[in-house]
Amino acid sequence: MRKKKNIQITNLELISAGAKGVSIGRTKEGKTVMVANAIPGDVVNVQVTKSKKNYCEARVLDFVRYSPDRTDPLCMHFGVCGGCKWQNLSYEKQLEYKEKEVYSNIERIGKIEDFQKLPIYPSREQYNYRNKMEFSFSASRWLTPEEIQSGEEILDKEALGFHIPQQWNKVLDLKTCFLQKEPSNKIRNYIKKIALEQDLEFYDFKERKGFLRTLMLRSNSKNEFLVLLQFFRESKKEREKLLTCIQQEFPEIKTLVYAINPKGNDSIYDLDIHVFSGEGFLTEEMEGLKFRIDAKSFFQTNYNQAVRLYEIARDFAGLKGDETVYDLYTGTGTIAQFISGRAKNVVGVEMVPEAIEAAKENAKYNNIQNCRFYCGDMKDIFTDEFISLNGHPEIIITDPPRDGMHKNVVETIVRIAPKKVVYVSCNSATQARDLELMKEKYEVIKVQAVDMFPQTHHVESVALLKLK
Ligand SMILES: C[S@@+](CC[C@H](N)C(=O)[O-])C[C@H]1O[C@@H](n2cnc3c(N)ncnc32)[C@H](O)[C@@H]1O
Repeated sequence: MRKKKNIQITNLELISAGAKGVSIGRTKEGKTVMVANAIPGDVVNVQVTKSKKNYCEARVLDFVRYSPDRTDPLCMHFGVCGGCKWQNLSYEKQLEYKEKEVYSNIERIGKIEDFQKLPIYPSREQYNYRNKMEFSFSASRWLTPEEIQSGEEILDKEALGFHIPQQWNKVLDLKTCFLQKEPSNKIRNYIKKIALEQDLEFYDFKERKGFLRTLMLRSNSKNEFLVLLQFFRESKKEREKLLTCIQQEFPEIKTLVYAINPKGNDSIYDLDIHVFSGEGFLTEEMEGLKFRIDAKSFFQTNYNQAVRLYEIARDFAGLKGDETVYDLYTGTGTIAQFISGRAKNVVGVEMVPEAIEAAKENAKYNNIQNCRFYCGDMKDIFTDEFISLNGHPEIIITDPPRDGMHKNVVETIVRIAPKKVVYVSCNSATQARDLELMKEKYEVIKVQAVDMFPQTHHVESVALLKLK
């Protein structure tokens, strides 16, 4: 008998896309095979890497036939860099599989059948749609197998780019990325060039030493930039020389900020952010509302699609102007403020204190007086006392993180029974799970998939629920 680890499957036709962007095939016996780094329509020979009762995972050994839906990836780093894994699949097919995933999750996991499936809303831009990018400096860049095998001494070891998937200490030296508009690449490449000219140390992940640690580039719809540099240690002379050069080179940089981070991780959320030039934040506008975005603020990364997503949520809510609306998981209060002109009161809840501070500041900045914001974990804050204090909501808009809502939150919604729930989600599997928990009391009227992240398998979905 063959050992499990040596199982190979030949001429496997990949017929669909599954969760997390894998492609799905079926063996002759009907077992599901999940294959990474291939696309639906490919016919492949694979090696099984994990075998369970109902499914197995496999890696491609070779391609017997390529899918007719393949396209040439735009990016030279495709296949090495962890992002944009669907660049080799036509955009029409990306949309088709995303739409299918959303609606089949709701049918299969949510066990809900009779609802209106609106056609997926495509992204206006298929590339250059992100307004936030984060890169790491590394003293030892990721080397290609050819470079390693050549035996030649590697002189240019420094990198500024993305971490290689599952390799915490290896960074791809990025030349071009098509996710953010120029001058994004120009700024990143210039910073690397002058850092080398100025002989500045790139971070050494193994030794935990160096000077330059991370770079964040945020932009707004006017294509103004906020640049954040994270240094491992303070060295005023070197830091000021570098930041001065960057600021002088790019008039698009409206504000240049930095942080000193000697910690084991590179999260900025517990660090002080220092302003080197400008105001320390960018301003973004939506329907005349202004939002301040600093280095730490959460803001949807695809601006044009975020506007559309909020419009859909607002349309689904069908506000008349006399309602109390709760915006659960409000972040910096963007949805709350976006709908505030069409509701009597809006109550936003969020667990990150800085986000709630920003929500309050933005509401003040926008002269909005009918929004109240509270900071806390939804499962703890959403009590009867909270509801009697803030008023019974006619409508709840909820936009939880990927894990979906805590079951106590779902139970409270069902118990207090608002007339409508608009459920915005970046993970239709957990959304479907929550919809099932609500289905005795709520009818799912319609669902709209929205593409916020072209070239990836990620998809957003908005569901309208009505009290039965
Ligand atoms: C998908 S984001 C939505 C943000 C916002 N609606 C927007 O469009 O900008 C989810 C938000 O939920 C917050 N969050 C996560 N877990 C939470 C919890 N248990 N209680 C309250 N807020 C939470 C996150 O900090 C994040 O801001």
